[in-house]
Amino acid sequence: MQRKLAAGNWKMNGTVADLSMIDSLNSAHPNPGCEILLCPPAHLLSQAVAQARTGPVRIGAQNCHSADTGAYTGDISAPMLADVGASHVIVGHSERREGYGETDADVKDKAAAAQAAGLTPILCIGESLEQREAGAALDVIRAQLAGSVPGNNTAETLVVAYEPIWAIGTGKIPTMEEIAQVHAVLRADLIDALGTTGATVPLLYGGSVKPGNAAGIFALDHVNGALVGGASLTAQDFSPIIEALS
Ligand code: G3P
Repeated sequence: MQRKLAAGNWKMNGTVADLSMIDSLNSAHPNPGCEILLCPPAHLLSQAVAQARTGPVRIGAQNCHSADTGAYTGDISAPMLADVGASHVIVGHSERREGYGETDADVKDKAAAAQAAGLTPILCIGESLEQREAGAALDVIRAQLAGSVPGNNTAETLVVAYEPIWAIGTGKIPTMEEIAQVHAVLRADLIDALGTTGATVPLLYGGSVKPGNAAGIFALDHVNGALVGGASLTAQDFSPIIEALS
């Protein structure tokens, strides 16, 4: 049985005032059957953790460095994130793979650093539109998975998110058949690589998940939740997505 997870990635959005959303979700947990995670930008993490403390909402980060300390101006390490109380960290988001040239090997190192610090990495993979149109989507995501998953995993210490790049922030999503096909292949590869652990690692879908399409996506086999961008910025949009994850 896989854990269910509704994770919100605020990207470079959000102010201290926006953290009031945590209170709304904490006081009216829309679905006790799933974990709720919010990943605000780094400057809000401490306050978000303090605000979330009394309720079910957990707080994650959007990136980490693979080193624990050192001369890396502007970066944050996994032990630092753990120190302020984060539980998860997103690694390998396509916006970092594309914008900062992060390779599978970089992502694997970050995921391993996160696990060593006691954080659960949410490891993102996904194909571009060109790759999908060329019929290469499955090859691309399988290669990313094989190249990015670190060595030691349990169902509690790894989450994988399939985010087709062309679906992120565009309002477009793959067909239900396409999502189901990718998730089935990822599940099989995780079991091949990790044995029984691979059967229980939560597999999230991400890319234009909205209140109106969430239930259909969550009904698919091997979809154990979502990594949500724009629709995680307000309780009004995020709550119905959490509710749909029943
Ligand atoms: O990490 C979440 C993400 O990239 C999806 O963003 O705005 O399409 O839900 P969005």
